[in-house]
Amino acid sequence: MTIIIDIATRKGGVNKTTCTFNLGHSIALTNKKFRVLLIDNDPQGDLTIATLGSKENLKTHTSELYNEKTPEPVFIRDNLAVIGTNDQLTFIQDKGFEVIYNLGAALENYKKDFDYILIDSLTHEGYLFTAGLLASNYVLSPMIPEPFAARGLKKTFDIVDKVRKPRLNPDLKILGVLLSTVPGNPTTLNKAVIDEIKQTYSDLVFKTQISKGTVASESPAYLQPVIEYEPKHKIGQQYMALAKEILQRIKR
Ligand SMILES: Nc1ncnc2c1ncn2[C@@H]1O[C@H](COP(=O)(O)OP(=O)(O)OP(=O)(O)O)[C@@H](O)[C@H]1O
Ligand SMILES: [Mg+2]
Repeated sequence: MTIIIDIATRKGGVNKTTCTFNLGHSIALTNKKFRVLLIDNDPQGDLTIATLGSKENLKTHTSELYNEKTPEPVFIRDNLAVIGTNDQLTFIQDKGFEVIYNLGAALENYKKDFDYILIDSLTHEGYLFTAGLLASNYVLSPMIPEPFAARGLKKTFDIVDKVRKPRLNPDLKILGVLLSTVPGNPTTLNKAVIDEIKQTYSDLVFKTQISKGTVASESPAYLQPVIEYEPKHKIGQQYMALAKEILQRIKR
């Protein structure tokens, strides 16, 4: 069965794209038999730029999924492919609320070819955000140890609750909360936020945390995940550990 994971938090700049990018590579590297597809569902196109180098001149793109087409994914390793986005995705929002169902319907066509589909979500609540949640089996919410991010997490889970209505996506599950950009020397405030998140979300918080490090910002400029850009760096190792933790969690 294909597992679809929406990487979503109602807060900007909390490492959603960096997580989707590194985790996609890590799942693909964990087992060569796993076929992984990344979908850029954010018109900003950061995932597209990290994987394909540019948003310009894409032969196929995410807005086609919303227009009932089946764009050909672009393979960036033997078992990892991406459907990137250009600015046209912005205009999908103007088509009316029915588009919230289109992404999930379109992804049905990819289930025979892929085992894991990761969707990089945009931050703003709207039709694209809802479409990502409706299309998915799981939500993974990255967050950084800062007070505003914790509030964004609460908003995310309130929306997940709304989406779990019988006629929407009653089986949607929270895969987990990923603490990311955790400093080597956390401040008192960082520690307080991490403690609060662990208390509130307990077992949902992944054991694996992602450390703060400039390598995470650098590697996408070379179209490489951290594990390949700097194989010995702990952040690359952490994303590999996260892939394993997720695969275990899904098995349960
Ligand atoms: N582990 C890390 N350590 C330090 N910086 C990081 C780390 N991971 C990601 N970053 C940087 O943090 C910033 C935000 O990350 P990213 O773009 O992945 O977040 P996002 O949630 O997708 O943002 P947006 O809401 O704009 O889509 C980027 O500059 C990214 O390079
Ligand atoms: Mg992003």
